[in-house]
Amino acid sequence: MLSDIPSETPPENLAALAEDHYFAANPPPKDLAKHVALAREFINHHSAAGRRLVLVTSGGTTVPLEKQTVRFIDNFSAGTRGATSAEYFLEAGYAVLFLHATDCFLDFLREGPNGSVVARDEDAAKMLHVLRKYRDARDRNMLLLLPFVSISDYLHELRSVAQLMRPLGPRGLLYLAAAVSDFFVPPDRMSEHKIQSTNAVEAFKKGGNTAPPPANEEETFDNFDSSPAVPRSKSLVIDLDPVPKFLKNLVEGWSPQGMIVSFKLETDPAILVHKARYSLDRYQHHLVIGNLFAELQLTVALKIHPEVFVSPGSPDRWIRVPFRNSGGESSAPADTEKDEPVDPKSLPDGEPEV
Ligand code: PMT
Repeated sequence: MLSDIPSETPPENLAALAEDHYFAANPPPKDLAKHVALAREFINHHSAAGRRLVLVTSGGTTVPLEKQTVRFIDNFSAGTRGATSAEYFLEAGYAVLFLHATDCFLDFLREGPNGSVVARDEDAAKMLHVLRKYRDARDRNMLLLLPFVSISDYLHELRSVAQLMRPLGPRGLLYLAAAVSDFFVPPDRMSEHKIQSTNAVEAFKKGGNTAPPPANEEETFDNFDSSPAVPRSKSLVIDLDPVPKFLKNLVEGWSPQGMIVSFKLETDPAILVHKARYSLDRYQHHLVIGNLFAELQLTVALKIHPEVFVSPGSPDRWIRVPFRNSGGESSAPADTEKDEPVDPKSLPDGEPEV
C-alpha cells in the first residue's frame, strides 16, 4: 500500500518507493517473460540495424473489480489513434512495437456461408487494407504486437519495454496513446470471487437457509409477498486508490534518453492546454499532445482531428489531422501552425481547412 511509505521519506525517493510498492503488490501478467523475450530480440535486431524504433501504446486499460474478474471499469479508447499512428510510423520507416489493448473485432465481422466468419461488407475494404499492411510489416519484422488487458498488465509491460529501449537513446521513441486509468482497486482489497448483488449468499453460508424471511425481515427482500423470496439488491460502493503517476519514473529512470510523447485527454476545453503544459512542466519530457473528448466524437463526421501540441520552449500549436478514408489512404497530417484552438464545428464536412 502506498500509505505504508513513511511520511519522512525525502521527495526524491518517493517515486522510486511508489514504484517498488506498486510492482511488488500488483502481480505481472502471465505472459510478461515471453513478451520481454520477444521485445528484447526485436529491439536488439533494429538497434543493430541503426533503425529508429517506436513504442506505441494504444487502447484502454481495464480496472478489475474482482480477482476472478467478471466486472471491470474501463477508460474511453477505441484504439484508433494508436493503430493509425502505428501505420504512419511504419510508413516513415520506424520499427513499431505496438503495446495494445486486446480489442474485440466482433463489430467488424458477420457470419459467412457454411458457418464461416467474414468481414462486414462496409468494413471489408478497410480490413483488407489493414490486414495486408499488418502482414507485410510483420513479415519484414518491422512490427511486434504485445497485448495487455488491465492497468497493472499495461504498467508491467510498459516498464519492461521502456527499460529494454534504454540503449537506443534518442533513436527510441515512446508514444503513449493508451488511455491509462488513474484509479484502481489494490489487490489486498479486491474480492476473490464475483461481487454479489444480494445477501442471498450470506444467508446460504450462515446455514443454507434461503427460505422466505420471517415477517420482521420483509424489508430485506424485493418480493416479500411471493415465493421463492428474492433478496433485495445491494448498492455497490467502490473505493478506488490512485494509480501512481509513472511518467516521472519513465522519464527519469526507465528510458531517460528516449524521446517521450504523452497524450492528454480532457473533456473541458478551458483546461486542456493548462493540463498539457502542467504535465510537460512536471515530467520534463518532449511533447504533450492534447485532445478533447467531444472533438474525438466529432472526428468521424468532420474527418479531422483538431489537437494541440505542447512542447518545451515553443508556443502551443494547434494542428488538424485529416481522418483516413475507408480504404486507408490519407493525406499527410495538415499542420496549420495555428496558435489558437480550432473550432471543429466551423469546418465543412469532408473538407478540412489545411
Ligand atoms: O484510442 P482512441 O479512441 O483513438 O482515443 C485516443 C485517446 C483519447 C485515448 C488518446 O488520444 C489519449 O488522449 N490518450 C491518453 C489518455 C490518458 O491517459 O490521459 P491522462 O491524462 O490520464 O494521462 C496523461 C499521461 O500520463 C498519459 O500519457 C499516461 O501515460 C500518463 N499516466 C497516466 C496515468 C497514470 N497513473 N500514470 C501515468 O503515467
